[in-house]
Amino acid sequence: MDGRIALVSGGTRGIGAAICKRLRAEGWKLSVGVRPGRETPPHLDDPEHIHLHPFDAADRTTHAAWVAAAAARWGRIDALVNCAGIVGPANLDDADEATLDALWAVNAKTPLHLIQLALPHLRAGGAGRIVNVASLSGLRVKNANVGYAMSKFALLALTHTVRQQEFANGIRCTAICPGFVDTDMTAHVTAAPRDEMTRPDDVAAAVAFVLSLPNTASVSVLPINWRAEDSL
Ligand SMILES: NC(=O)c1ccc[n+]([C@@H]2O[C@H](COP(=O)([O-])OP(=O)(O)OC[C@H]3O[C@@H](n4cnc5c(N)ncnc54)[C@H](OP(=O)(O)O)[C@@H]3O)[C@@H](O)[C@H]2O)c1
Repeated sequence: MDGRIALVSGGTRGIGAAICKRLRAEGWKLSVGVRPGRETPPHLDDPEHIHLHPFDAADRTTHAAWVAAAAARWGRIDALVNCAGIVGPANLDDADEATLDALWAVNAKTPLHLIQLALPHLRAGGAGRIVNVASLSGLRVKNANVGYAMSKFALLALTHTVRQQEFANGIRCTAICPGFVDTDMTAHVTAAPRDEMTRPDDVAAAVAFVLSLPNTASVSVLPINWRAEDSL
C-alpha cells in the first residue's frame, strides 16, 4: 500500500485513531480531518506522512476545503474512510429533535457529502475505495436508540448506493459494522464487559484488509461482533 492516499475522518480517538495507525504501518499516507482548535494527538503528529486539516462533521462549510486541501497536498486520493461519528439518546418518546438532527448530520449526511466531494478523485485512479464505519445498529435493532439506528441504517443505504452506482468506475464501497468496541463512545456501557468488547485495533485490521482487496473482490458489508447473535 506504499504511497496510497487515504482520507480519514474521526482519526483523533478510538476506532479512527487505530485505523490511522494501522494504515500508516501499511505504508498509506493520510489526510485526517480534525476539529478546529483541538490539540493534535501524538499519533497524528507526522507532517511528512499525515496531512491535517480543519474539519467539523457538523459544519458542512468545512468539508470541501478539507478534501481540496488533501488533494492538493498529495496529488490524488485513493480511499476515503468515514469514521467520525456520535451517539446520543434519541428514543421514541423524545420530543426534542436536537440530538436526532445531530446524529443525522454527523453519522449520515456528512459521509454522503464527503463521498460526493471525494468521488472525482477516487474515480480518477480506477480503484477508489470507500469504507463507512457503520455499526451492527445499522443492520438490526437491539435497543431503544432509534435515532442512532436510523443514522446507521441510512449509512448502510448510502454504502449500497455508492457500491452499485460507482462499481463501473472501479470504486468499491464497504460498510464495516461493529458491535460494542472499547472506546470513549462505550464508556457508559455496562451491559457488556469491557474486556470482552471488540478492540479498536480489530476494527482497524478489518478496514485495512478491505482496503487491500483488488477490484475483483467487493465486500459490501462486514459485521464484527463481540458476542454471538442469531445471524451476526
Ligand atoms: N465504539 C463502538 O462501540 C462503536 C460500535 C459501532 C460503530 N461505531 C462507530 O465507529 C465510529 C467511531 O466511533 P468510536 O467508538 O471510535 O468513537 P469515539 O471514541 O467517541 O471517537 C469519535 C471520533 O469521531 C470524531 N468526531 C465526532 N464528532 C465529530 C465532528 N462533529 N467533527 C469531526 N469529528 C468528529 C471525534 O473527534 P474529536 O476527538 O474531535 O471528538 C473522534 O475522533 C463512529 O462512527 C461510531 O458510530 C462505534
